[in-house]
Amino acid sequence: MCGIVGYVGFQDAQTAIVSGLKRMEYRGYDSAGIALVNERGIEVRKKAGKIANLVQELEDHPIAPSHQGIGHTRWATHGGPTDENAHPHLGATGRVGLVHNGIIENFASLAAGLAADGVVLRSQTDSEIVAHLLEREVLVGHSLVEAMRRTVVQLRGAFTLVAVDAQSPGEVVAARRSSPLVVGVGQSEMFLASDVASFIAYTREAIELGQDQIVRITPDTVEVTMFDGTSAVTRPYHIDWDLSAAQKDGYDWFMRKEIFEQPKAVADTLLGRIGADRQLVLDEMRIDTAHLRTIDAIIVVAAGTAYHAGLIAKYAIEHWTRIPVEVELASEFRYRDPIVTSTTLVVTISQSGETADTLMAVRHAREQHAKVVSICNTNGATIPRESDAVIYTHAGPEIAVASTKGFTTQLIACYLLGLYLAQIRGTKFGDEVQRLVEELGSLSGKMDEVLDDLDGVLGLAEQLRDAEDFLFLGRHVGYPVALEGALKLKEISYTHAEGFAAGELKHGPIALVEKGLPIFIVVPPKGRDQLHDKVVSNIQEVRARGGRTIVLAERGDADAAAFADVFWPLPIVPTLFQPVLAILPLQVFACQIATLNGHDVDQPRNLAKSVTVE
Ligand code: AGP
Repeated sequence: MCGIVGYVGFQDAQTAIVSGLKRMEYRGYDSAGIALVNERGIEVRKKAGKIANLVQELEDHPIAPSHQGIGHTRWATHGGPTDENAHPHLGATGRVGLVHNGIIENFASLAAGLAADGVVLRSQTDSEIVAHLLEREVLVGHSLVEAMRRTVVQLRGAFTLVAVDAQSPGEVVAARRSSPLVVGVGQSEMFLASDVASFIAYTREAIELGQDQIVRITPDTVEVTMFDGTSAVTRPYHIDWDLSAAQKDGYDWFMRKEIFEQPKAVADTLLGRIGADRQLVLDEMRIDTAHLRTIDAIIVVAAGTAYHAGLIAKYAIEHWTRIPVEVELASEFRYRDPIVTSTTLVVTISQSGETADTLMAVRHAREQHAKVVSICNTNGATIPRESDAVIYTHAGPEIAVASTKGFTTQLIACYLLGLYLAQIRGTKFGDEVQRLVEELGSLSGKMDEVLDDLDGVLGLAEQLRDAEDFLFLGRHVGYPVALEGALKLKEISYTHAEGFAAGELKHGPIALVEKGLPIFIVVPPKGRDQLHDKVVSNIQEVRARGGRTIVLAERGDADAAAFADVFWPLPIVPTLFQPVLAILPLQVFACQIATLNGHDVDQPRNLAKSVTVE
């Protein structure tokens, strides 16, 4: 999720573009760059790090005045946050400049084609490949619009592309597929951007672009066509948000925005994971498959929400690979003198990639000669840099302290790791792996179903806003969901909440149950041995003692609904994948309780987004 700006108009383009990038820095901030068209052609300045580094670069190496250009603030997906990987990227001759937001799934085959033609890439990004493809079309005489049309048909994946041609003064051209792009309509000036935050200071008149559309802007015109050249229907609208609301896309909190970004984040994390031979491909998995076949123990190490993701990973990875999996709190791992050998695979999970407890665990594991795979959402962070291999989630920056899209995309990465290990070790046949990956691919749509039906969740939050205690129960993969649901409520509403294994209740915690106590119970799908029936029994146990049961179960589960004071139905998915759906209403509930009670949901008291001290 990067920040993109295009500008053409009467203003100094550098000023308009840099100010727009600053307002979108929350969308990605590991590098930034700008390309301007002037009498020298296209001049590019780009730097790793915050936008301040780019501003300094522009002061040190000024660009000649321009009224046309593009800019980018990056959240790295392919290729770490370095100067050469920063956008904009140029084609081989420097005739065309381009910025990109999204993931090009077929970048490997496109790169191979370019290499075969003698093109030497300057970066490790999928985006630079597109710049070369686009420039090739321009160099044979096509207009920038026609060149864009011919380029996008070669691409698979999600992308917003914004480009300039050194020999086409006065225009900027863009294309959009499954990644945001909006036009800002000014007076003798036009803007293109990932979101309205970048140009809201200059104009509140906008045009939302739709799927598979190409747009050409000049200072006074906006022309929109479909990828196939046919005319496009567009939707002009007036922006009445303030800047802060614009940065949250109209949501009240980044957390709420990020909750609703999860279906796309999950879909993006799955992009590009299936190779041409329909085999699972984890392109950042740089551990030799022969070594992975010798692994006889896996230890998952993480903190907080990431630890809860690890608990779920255990069930999936053990079931698919038959390798024993331990899950350890990062802050405990190295102090218990763990048994780690060269045939142990240590898997760390960290959204930020900077959590000190987890980083120390990585170092300890490597001192014990174990291979370390990191699951991380931050390209180029310390933990992936110090690991042997990495599986990046593609959730985009997670701004809210409370992790939501970080969690669900971590689950996807854990599932991918488990299926990859099963595939190379032969404990799952290729068709079984494919079927499960296809099931993963359907989760995004099912997440939308859950997020489209939240009236009951919001209503219950209103009813329980003053409740002082909550219990969360679950079994199997529902147990970590209970832990995560309790953590969400604790950390943003400061309300006491505890998660328990449902079967553990009778060994003590059931003494807590009293009349009216709200108890969330995550019920597994039917058909999993006696798992389902035992959890229904647990619901009866707590209800018989006055507990108020809020039951999350498969749609149509009448047995579970029979003992529910409140029933939240979930779409039908395999047991192991249910956490991706079950956590959603619990995230929304926690966010709503905290909002109703006037808390700062995005920056809860006493907490930091990344705990970089032990
Ligand atoms: C989760 O909502 C919290 N913000 C916290 O538990 C977090 O998950 C934990 O600190 C781990 O952070 P990491 O994923 O960046 O390593």
